[in-house]
Amino acid sequence: MRHLLWLIALATVPSLLWMCTAKTAADGPKASSLPPLKVDKSAPLLLLDEPAKPASAASADGPVADNSACYCCHDNYQTEEMVTVHAREDIGCVECHGQSYDHRNDEDNVTPPDIMIPADQIAASCQKCHETHDAPARDVIARWQERCPAKQNPDELLCTDCHGAHRLALRTVRWDKKTRKLLGRPEE
Ligand code: HEC
Ligand code: HEC
Ligand code: HEC
Ligand code: HEC
Repeated sequence: MRHLLWLIALATVPSLLWMCTAKTAADGPKASSLPPLKVDKSAPLLLLDEPAKPASAASADGPVADNSACYCCHDNYQTEEMVTVHAREDIGCVECHGQSYDHRNDEDNVTPPDIMIPADQIAASCQKCHETHDAPARDVIARWQERCPAKQNPDELLCTDCHGAHRLALRTVRWDKKTRKLLGRPEE
């Protein structure tokens, strides 16, 4: 449909041009001496142009990362907080997990994504961008009690224990997040 519109637009350009040039020429002294139409062959064809991003891809808050290549399998993440707060800042899945072409093209789901983040590397991975934690201690402790009361030692608390719901409750495939080895399919 979009292509059809472009075709119509393209088809009308020459006739519009003709109408404009014909009019100016008619105003001039000789209608027969129209200047030759100059075609800039180095300019890209309109048809080959990327279609403009649909309005829905941009939000009032700023740019939005395009995670659609991941949503076709990871649909559950579309409204997850860690995904949405970062997508608003143009930080998509691929920023944290890599482009992962082999992973997303593997219909057998045995190839892991490019970047996995084991528990002991989570804080460091976030602190690359969040150097400080500007939150009242009272709120932090309340969140701790609400979301992970079983953890006694603050050193065990992970950023993702308190932020978002990024961890999957059920896994169908598991890889070792450090060695990338396929561990198996727990649900089968
Ligand atoms: C800001 C960085 C960041 C972004 C953006 C992000 N992730 Fe993650 N992701 C992480 C971290 C950190 C972990 C490890 C979380 C944990 O184990 O608690 C993780 C873990 C995961 C896991 C494994 C969860 C589990 O239970 O082991 C999946 C699946 C995943 N991410 C998918 C995605 C998808 C799909 C997107 C985009 C829609 C995305 N992530 C965006 C940082 C990110
Ligand atoms: C590539 C840089 C980057 C990484 C990595 C990253 N963030 Fe962010 N994050 C941002 C930016 C930019 C914002 C929006 C500005 C802000 O609020 O700090 C943001 C926003 C947030 C917010 C919302 C803050 C608010 O004001 O409501 C939370 C919570 C958050 N990040 C947690 C995390 C956690 C947890 C991790 C690790 C899993 C992480 N971020 C990794 C860049 C990053
Ligand atoms: C025990 C719970 C808890 C842990 C662990 C935790 N946070 Fe928070 N964090 C909070 C609470 C509560 C707030 C304030 C309310 C909010 O923004 O969600 C907050 C606020 C934030 C904010 C917004 C304020 C700011 O500083 O820009 C960011 C970003 C953030 N946390 C990132 C992280 C990162 C990164 C880690 C891991 C290094 C982490 N948090 C660990 C509870 C926690
Ligand atoms: C063809 C389907 C498919 C596509 C497309 C896909 N994934 Fe996955 N991904 C999976 C499956 C299946 C799992 C295992 C989840 C489970 O256990 O249920 C997985 C797991 C993951 C994990 C968890 C790894 C860990 O820590 O254990 C991450 C991270 C991830 N995917 C990121 C991405 C990102 C980023 C994209 C887009 C660039 C993407 N995936 C696109 C199927 C896909």
